[in-house]
Amino acid sequence: MAKKFPHVHVVGVDLAPRTDIPSQPPNLRLEFDDANLGFPHYHGCFDVVHCRSMCGGINDRNWFFSELERCLRPGGVLIVIDCETPILDHNKRPMTPASLDGHYPQTRGWMARIMYEAGQDFAARGASPVFGNIASEYSRALMATGSLPNPVVQLMHIPLGPWPIGNTEVETRWIRQLGEMMRRNALVSDFHFLTYLNSFSLPTH
Ligand SMILES: C[S@@+](CC[C@H](N)C(=O)[O-])C[C@H]1O[C@@H](n2cnc3c(N)ncnc32)[C@H](O)[C@@H]1O
Repeated sequence: MAKKFPHVHVVGVDLAPRTDIPSQPPNLRLEFDDANLGFPHYHGCFDVVHCRSMCGGINDRNWFFSELERCLRPGGVLIVIDCETPILDHNKRPMTPASLDGHYPQTRGWMARIMYEAGQDFAARGASPVFGNIASEYSRALMATGSLPNPVVQLMHIPLGPWPIGNTEVETRWIRQLGEMMRRNALVSDFHFLTYLNSFSLPTH
């Protein structure tokens, strides 16, 4: 973002921000911080607050969104992006997570298993419930801040492989490219997850 908009000042916050970025742009500052502690030092400071894929580490989502809103300048924009499970099949029906009992009638549920386990792990560490219909949960939480005049929620189905067909040729090309990137990403997650399971001597496929 800092590279794309060189005329703005960008502050990136994470519990563990990347510090190995080659040629970090001069308009970017990275900070280590726990979002659950709030950002009172940034109240009223930003025109845009962008928060992506953070829900697993947030203890109280309603409070957190209000806190992000307090960091905006008047007229500022808050953009929150996250993903929800379950993983859906071709008919947009939730897939059953693969079981860990050693029987694998099919392997297609492994991504669903990964997301399920991730949800369990986030919840065990005290995060607000993450999975289920996150779009409507976010919408409710954004409305609950009481100070965002026009919250807009958009739900997108992102393919996990390069096979979907769009409504037009251009759309098909676009979603297939997206699906291919997601597939590569999923294969890496799958590998790490199965390595993790192996370390507990659980069966893997
Ligand atoms: C799935 S990654 C997303 C990273 C980045 N936001 C992105 O979209 O590419 C989730 C990130 O949230 C960070 N995170 C989770 N809980 C946090 C918290 N309470 N405060 C700050 N960062 C947190 C993790 O360290 C991790 O880098």
